[in-house]
Amino acid sequence: MADKPASALLRPLPDGIVPAEVVARTEKRWLMLMTVMLICMLAIIVLTSAFGHMNLTNDVEVVQPLTLHLGGEFAESNLGTALEMDGSATVRIIAEQYDFVPRCVEVPAATPVTFRLTSADVIHGFLLPDTNVNTMVVPGFVAELHTSFSRPGDYLMPCHEFCGLGHHGMWTQVRVLEKERFADRDPLARIRCDRH
Ligand code: CUA
Repeated sequence: MADKPASALLRPLPDGIVPAEVVARTEKRWLMLMTVMLICMLAIIVLTSAFGHMNLTNDVEVVQPLTLHLGGEFAESNLGTALEMDGSATVRIIAEQYDFVPRCVEVPAATPVTFRLTSADVIHGFLLPDTNVNTMVVPGFVAELHTSFSRPGDYLMPCHEFCGLGHHGMWTQVRVLEKERFADRDPLARIRCDRH
């Protein structure tokens, strides 16, 4: 009678079964790879938020969506771009099915710009391609984003959260003007983007 090895691990395995030590070694390598990938991804998040002007989620400021039009910050007369005492610009926009109000906003180049948005109905999205501006616009909350545009140009701002049947047609425009040109603009022209 042939001797049987004491440990099950030492017995010859049928074809197609990977030995336990090979499995353990492979799993260890994958675990190390995953750990390195996780550390890289976490580092990217930390570094982009610290040095890439990433706008962190800040849905903590509440607002009453049903009475936006009746007064307060998002009343019609306050919408669009306002220049602040410190030289920065603040843009206030309401997102609603299926439009942004105002339809177009003009902002000065080379100036700190703060966007403040809220929704009058359902969740919308606000995105300026190739910038750090990208947020959900949630009813009941104010979404605030900080950015600055280095040169004049037009940005299309699509709604990128599915918000209903008209979602695909919900987009509008941010027009960046030279600082001096912006200062000369009539406040009403700034929310219509009239040619001049
Ligand atoms: Cu608003 Cu999609």
